[in-house]
Amino acid sequence: MAEDAILGFLQNKDEIPNSENFALDFGVGHDEIVNVIRSLHGFRLVDAQDIRRERWVLTEEGKTYAAVGSPEFQLFSAVPPEGIAREELQKKMDPAVYKIGCQQAIKNKWVEMAKTHVSRKVQHANDRVKDLLLRIQDGEAVNQEDIDALKRRKLIIQQVWKGFSVKKGPNYALKRKRAATDLTRENLQRGDWKELEFKEYNFGAKGQPVEGGHLHPLLKVRRQIQMIFLYMGFEEMPTNNFVESSFWNFDALFQPQQHPARDSHDTFFLKVPSTTKMLPEDYVERVKEIHESGGYQSRGYGYDWKREEANKNLLRTHTTAVSSRMLYALAQKPFIPKKYYSIDRVFRNEAVDRTHLAEFHQIEGLICDRGLTLGDLIGVLQDFFSRLGMSKLRFKPAYNPYTEPSMEIFSYHEGFKKWVEIGNSGMFRPEMLLPMGLPEDVRVIAWGLSLERPAMILNGIDNIRDLFGPKVDLGLIKRNPICRLGL
Ligand code: PHE
Repeated sequence: MAEDAILGFLQNKDEIPNSENFALDFGVGHDEIVNVIRSLHGFRLVDAQDIRRERWVLTEEGKTYAAVGSPEFQLFSAVPPEGIAREELQKKMDPAVYKIGCQQAIKNKWVEMAKTHVSRKVQHANDRVKDLLLRIQDGEAVNQEDIDALKRRKLIIQQVWKGFSVKKGPNYALKRKRAATDLTRENLQRGDWKELEFKEYNFGAKGQPVEGGHLHPLLKVRRQIQMIFLYMGFEEMPTNNFVESSFWNFDALFQPQQHPARDSHDTFFLKVPSTTKMLPEDYVERVKEIHESGGYQSRGYGYDWKREEANKNLLRTHTTAVSSRMLYALAQKPFIPKKYYSIDRVFRNEAVDRTHLAEFHQIEGLICDRGLTLGDLIGVLQDFFSRLGMSKLRFKPAYNPYTEPSMEIFSYHEGFKKWVEIGNSGMFRPEMLLPMGLPEDVRVIAWGLSLERPAMILNGIDNIRDLFGPKVDLGLIKRNPICRLGL
């Protein structure tokens, strides 16, 4: 055993001067000896000193030349005393050896190369390169100039050799006592614990990486947006129903029953249960009325409103369905102003691509109070989005069945150097609010945006499928920073 050999050797001798020579004498690999020395050193049975030597070794090319001669010498030897036709010489030789050989032999002034003829300039040449390579191979010293020249020709490279010189340590013994790592029941029963030497704790050891749960980036961005709403005094709306009736998702929002968004191409309808059973009947009557023939100075849409259509269950296509429920509930009591928000999932029957998924998350905010104006909406949006880090906003007139006026919201993206659409907004129509029973002077300003959009921008993700769904790389979720918005 290497350990016994080292400890045994040191019993009578002062020092192992070089671990490599020792390994050679002992007939084991140097790596193994090094490991044993490190371990003995750790327990201070020996005292090991690092030795570090830089030495030159031959590259594969160098080894070849050491064996068969340098290319210049091979070339010189191939030129007979009377000279040779260039073409013929080239034919005799390996192309690489010929090329290097020519360069070096001309440089050495060994040969002269005329247009078609090659002749010797000296009678005799010495293969110094080969001699030098052989000397380096044998570990002999070679002067720096020659080393540099060989290095430049990539015939030798430097190798760092590391080993040890070893002396007795303070705990030296011919045999190492195995240190105990645990105190066992048997040790106690036998009483041998008194003699045991215990291994010291290694407080510097690295433990296993701790695996815990990780929050999804969307959840983190959601939390931060939630905090913005809370700072601004908003209350959260209950969004815990993915299934909604067409009535609250569309009809209550004054969205006509022929509207293309209500088509099954855009909306997921439920098979079971396919219809809702509970709607507030008197309010349903007023909604039917406003769609069919109008009221409150509106002309309505002038079509036959069908209850069956309103009863159809669907996966909500926007969280504005929740807003309509909340505003209706608010209208049933004496009016008090409110600020509401929600962040939750919505569903759309869309072709999936790099920016669209069939399910995503919507951020929704609304304020209802007497006498609000479009100016209030713009002001609130400026405040809200600047807290998200987007302070340059632009608004573009848009259309929603339930808001008038409506505005798309654009923000200047410093990274993309362009205006990007970030949300939609507007003032809810009287056709929506008055049938609910809200006082006439109550105005509701509202806006909505996707949660995925800011999450993608903040995380530098350009394909929504890398953020959400089955193709997400779990590593992304583990590495994702705790916080992204500079609040
Ligand atoms: N519901 C709209 C959407 O899905 C967003 C919105 C909310 C627009 C509130 C205006 C007011 O895009």
